[in-house]
Amino acid sequence: MVEERKPVIGVLGAGAMGSGIAQVAATHGHSVVLGDAHPAACDAAADRIARSLTREVEKRRLTRDAADTTLERLNLVHLPSAASCDVYASCDLVIEAIVERLDAKREAFQALERVVPRHCVLASNTSSLSIAAIGAACQHPERTLGIHFFNPAPVMPLVEIVPGIQTDNAPLTWSRDIIDSWGKTTVLALDTPGFIVNRVARPYYGEALRILDEGLASASDIDWAMTALGGFRMGPFELMDFIGHDVNYVVTESVWTALHYDPRFKPSLTQRRLLDAGLLGKKSGRGFYNYGPGAERPKAREDAALGSAILNRILAMLINEAIDAVYLRVTTAADVETAMTKGVNYPKGLLAWGEEIGYSTVLAEIDRLHDEYHEDRYRASPLLRRLVRENRSLLR
Ligand SMILES: NC(=O)c1ccc[n+]([C@@H]2O[C@H](COP(=O)([O-])OP(=O)(O)OC[C@H]3O[C@@H](n4cnc5c(N)ncnc54)[C@H](O)[C@@H]3O)[C@@H](O)[C@H]2O)c1
Repeated sequence: MVEERKPVIGVLGAGAMGSGIAQVAATHGHSVVLGDAHPAACDAAADRIARSLTREVEKRRLTRDAADTTLERLNLVHLPSAASCDVYASCDLVIEAIVERLDAKREAFQALERVVPRHCVLASNTSSLSIAAIGAACQHPERTLGIHFFNPAPVMPLVEIVPGIQTDNAPLTWSRDIIDSWGKTTVLALDTPGFIVNRVARPYYGEALRILDEGLASASDIDWAMTALGGFRMGPFELMDFIGHDVNYVVTESVWTALHYDPRFKPSLTQRRLLDAGLLGKKSGRGFYNYGPGAERPKAREDAALGSAILNRILAMLINEAIDAVYLRVTTAADVETAMTKGVNYPKGLLAWGEEIGYSTVLAEIDRLHDEYHEDRYRASPLLRRLVRENRSLLR
């Protein structure tokens, strides 16, 4: 598997993620084959990459020569059919970033496996599908894994590396080393719904929506509490509008269903209705807020007591989720900290935050919510309870 020449990287799917991943690989000296089933997507990817590299040159992070060489390393190809996958025949690692549908991904992996060399590692950038289920479509599932980048791939430092049950250690460490060599920070995640970030971050949206649904506070009040008091870069509602409800709601729903309808992850009907109405957020001009010309955002009350009640509630749910991810061995304590600060820019690691507040305070908040609602949603992780009982840290 170890080769003298720089491994050739294939990327299947030239949308937002695929074009970003291809750009990162080419910037780091790899020859890259970037293919897409739609010619318009290939043109858009060529444009996007060229613009992104020009921005890097303008910011003096790249010389014009280096940007030009990067472009020369990129081979953009239109793939009219699965049979045209033979352009990937020289690849050592192929990262698939096509539409988020299991049948499409399984088909793509089969088409790739027919043409790539025996040593080639096949990875999926899926956000929510099972790596085991994608890999099972292959003759050699031991060389398949998840390599999950964040959007935009050239900017976001975190990459989750996700072995399936069938994945061998050698392709895993070999491909992780490659991603590390691109200056990315990799964390290892268990093949479970939402991996680390998309699982642990759910309460940021879900609990905010629940507070809104109950009429306890407005979207602006909640956004104000989380940014002004919590130090988050964007409040939950502006962030959902920014991500798009088509993406954000679908991730929540898929994590919830894949976790057997665990009420901790239950989606909100309010968000569902926005999606039904086509009010997808910033990209469609309206979501929780209006984005039309001259639109103004409703003012927050900026009430300190209300704000801290909101922050404490959402934060307690987030910290509980981070601890539960460690409890269920989705990841380690160190990696959950890295994942949330580098994957979604949280101002602090959730465990460090929990230890600063005190795990007993976090537990008291979850138990208070449980007493109030009598819902399984407000269920403290057994590990949180144990940490409080034993007065123990997860970080030291
Ligand atoms: N957008 C994000 O924030 C984000 C973040 C991390 C992971 N992901 C995951 O990355 C993958 C791609 O997401 P995206 O946002 O780039 O989507 P996208 O819609 O921007 O791009 C997908 C591309 O794949 C092409 N495509 C679809 N089926 C194909 C096939 N069979 N063969 C070749 N090309 C095909 C489409 O033409 C399109 O250009 C998904 O699995 C998604 O869940 C997305």
